[in-house]
Amino acid sequence: MRFETRVIHGGQEADPRTGAVIPPIYQVSTYKQDGVGGLRAGYEYSRSANPTRDALEANLAALEGGARGLAFASGLAAEDTLLRTVCKPGDHVVIPGDAYGGTYRLFAKVLERWGLDYTPVAQQDLDEVRRAVRDTTRVIWCETPTNPLLNVADIAALAGIAREAEARLVVDNTFASPALQQPLALGADVAVHSTTKYLGGHSDVVGGALVVDDQQLADDLAFHQNAIGAVAGPFDAWLVLRGIKTLAVRMDRHCDNAEKIVAMLREHDAVTEVRYPDADEIARKQMTRYGGMVSFRVRGGEQQAVDICGRTTLFTLAESLGGVESLIEHPGRMTHASAAGSPLEVPGDLVRLSVGIENADDLIADLRTALG
Ligand SMILES: Cc1ncc(COP(=O)(O)O)c(C=O)c1O
Repeated sequence: MRFETRVIHGGQEADPRTGAVIPPIYQVSTYKQDGVGGLRAGYEYSRSANPTRDALEANLAALEGGARGLAFASGLAAEDTLLRTVCKPGDHVVIPGDAYGGTYRLFAKVLERWGLDYTPVAQQDLDEVRRAVRDTTRVIWCETPTNPLLNVADIAALAGIAREAEARLVVDNTFASPALQQPLALGADVAVHSTTKYLGGHSDVVGGALVVDDQQLADDLAFHQNAIGAVAGPFDAWLVLRGIKTLAVRMDRHCDNAEKIVAMLREHDAVTEVRYPDADEIARKQMTRYGGMVSFRVRGGEQQAVDICGRTTLFTLAESLGGVESLIEHPGRMTHASAAGSPLEVPGDLVRLSVGIENADDLIADLRTALG
């Protein structure tokens, strides 16, 4: 099955009892047992397994080409569960020199206290990554393209470095989505998602996912998913699955619109730099297109960047990304405020766009007005 078919049919079967073509929302916590230990189809308690979540997890595995998908209450819940599964206190992780601020905060403010050490590295420089690896390194954590600077790291090359170090390569694939980039096929051990973003696609649900190909790792993760308990609820799982069905067509339009906006911004006098990975050699090798996220820096500095964010009318001033509607934000004061004063601090003159699927000319007109 090709991707456009997999988003709709991957891992999906009609409901066995009724033939319902869409998995019902099994809004249930517990399941009747036929005698002690006599589980029906293995269901016991919805933290351990729930049919709606199972349907999403099977679909996630199909999208990323993995053996198993696991769905969580948020992207950060997925990240936390993963790190506490594959690392122990005293271990070390190589993290990106820029990344989603919440991911950085998880390392810096939560897992460091648990005893997990980390080194931020600009992962475009593979020698720097090699130098950062220690005997205790268990994970190379990669986000590509990065949030919000859209830097690109070479997944296949990082997988090679991880293998040599007997560490695992984790790729946060939230920005690209599996429609544009398939980390497991490039050698990554784990694909991570905030399903809140492109997979959900409609700004109506918070969720996270992990997809892996190794069966032992899948079993360890499933154990911790249940033991830690940050699972996706049935309705949230259903919403994400519903969103995924249109992922392929949505990503086409996100990319079409972003390309037109990038062309306009590159010509605009107020803009000093456009961050979009369409000319990046590595991106061209590992992505099919370059997504709906665009960042740019402005001549007038931080105040102008903040003012632009306040002046658009179609682009809604809001955090998050990946929904059908266009969003604008100031990363330094919003999504990445938690990285202020750290090596992951972002420039104050940076504006980030999540380009939606509206009419491109309407979006361009809105931005032109806001840029002045
Ligand atoms: C790249 C990336 N990874 C992870 C996350 C965390 O996901 P969530 O907000 O669903 O916990 C985000 C959220 O913005 C993100 O942008």
